[in-house]
Parts: sequence; structure tokens; C-alpha cells
Amino acid sequence: MSMSKFAARLYKKSLALAALALWMAPAGSQEARIQLGAHITEDQLRGFDLIAAPDGSGMPPGAGTAREGREVYNRRCLACHNLNGEGVSGNTVIVGGDMQSEESPLRTVGSYWPHASTLFDFIRRAMPADAPKSLTDEEVYQVTAYVLFLNGIIGEDQSINSETLTAIVMPNGNGFVDLSHLH
Ligand code: HEC
Repeated sequence: MSMSKFAARLYKKSLALAALALWMAPAGSQEARIQLGAHITEDQLRGFDLIAAPDGSGMPPGAGTAREGREVYNRRCLACHNLNGEGVSGNTVIVGGDMQSEESPLRTVGSYWPHASTLFDFIRRAMPADAPKSLTDEEVYQVTAYVLFLNGIIGEDQSINSETLTAIVMPNGNGFVDLSHLH
């Protein structure tokens, strides 16, 4: 290969490299081009960091009774879960049910859910379905108590808080096999 051809190739190669460098270099404009999104704020992050577990961890301060929760329920839940939790469709029934049925066991809070803490956690993060996370912690305690009351699990004036809630024994509390040790 003559020296000039070699130089020409080298020149072309360096042009290609320069083009590549140009494409990669300006971090700002590249970010704009591939749409990496925005940084999450501490406030937004807090909205995801809300897990209340059966061991009581993550439970916020507060307390409530079913008597107080009835008002919250009628205002925020009734439209989809109907009077007394009887539901407006198959998956909105939250009271009653039977896990022993061979046909199609109806899974509700009373028949299926193993922990009351999970109920609190679910309502706090996912309900009302048309405006999740719009209830105060106090309202969540109250309406959780009401749903437990509708299922005959607690009395109307029994106050629930982080401690009493985790101590509640649910009707189907023994209906699950704990395989967590396998993970
Ligand atoms: C706009 C309709 C709507 C509203 C309002 C609403 N829910 Fe729900 N809810 C649903 C639907 C739909 C499901 C079933 C979702 C699923 O299974 O993923 C559900 C599921 C649930 C469940 C779980 C049922 C189960 O056993 O799987 C509970 C408990 C519950 N809702 C409680 C509440 C409470 C308490 C309120 C009021 C604070 C409320 N919901 C308001 C629509 C609604």
C-alpha cells in the first residue's frame, strides 16, 4: 500500500471516528434526543414508599372505628362496592364469600384475605379506584375498620391502630402455606 493511500484511509477512519464522537459527545442534547425522562422528586418517591406489612412495619400513626368509617365508605366506596360491600360486579364484592365452594370460590376480605394489615395497605395505596391515595391515613384506618366490621370480624366501636390491626386474626388466616423460606 502506498503511503498516500494509507494516509487517505487513516483520514477517512478519523473522519468516521470524529463523526461518532460528535454523535456521542454533547450529553445534554443526547439526553434530549433519547428522552431519558426527568429525575423523580423526593415527594413523588414518598408516594411509592408506603408498604404496610403484616409485621406492623410501615404502619402510620392513627386510629379509627367502623362507626367513623361508615361515613367515609358511603362517600368514597359505596358507588363501586355497594351497600354493605355486596359489590356491583364479581370483583367488587368485599363481604361474605366462601372458599370451600367447589364451583368458584368467592374471594373476599372475609373469606380470603389472610391479614388485616394487608387490607389497610391495599386500601391506602389502591382505593378508591377512581382516586387512589386520596384518603388520609386516619380515613384509611376508619374505612378499614368498617370493611372488617361488615365482614363480622370486629365490632362497630372497636378502635384499630397499627398494633391492634396486626393482632386481628382473619377468618382465612390459616388458609395459606408460607413458602417465604424458599426465596
Ligand atoms: C371507582 C370504583 C371503586 C371505588 C370508588 C372503590 N373501589 Fe375498591 N375496588 C374496585 C375494583 C374494580 C376492585 C377490584 C380490583 C381488583 O381486583 O384488582 C376493587 C377492589 C377492592 C378491594 C379488594 C377486593 C378483593 O378481595 O380483591 C377492597 C378491599 C376495596 N376495593 C376497598 C375499597 C374501599 C375501602 C373503597 C373506598 C375508600 C373503595 N374500594 C372504593 C373499585 C372501586
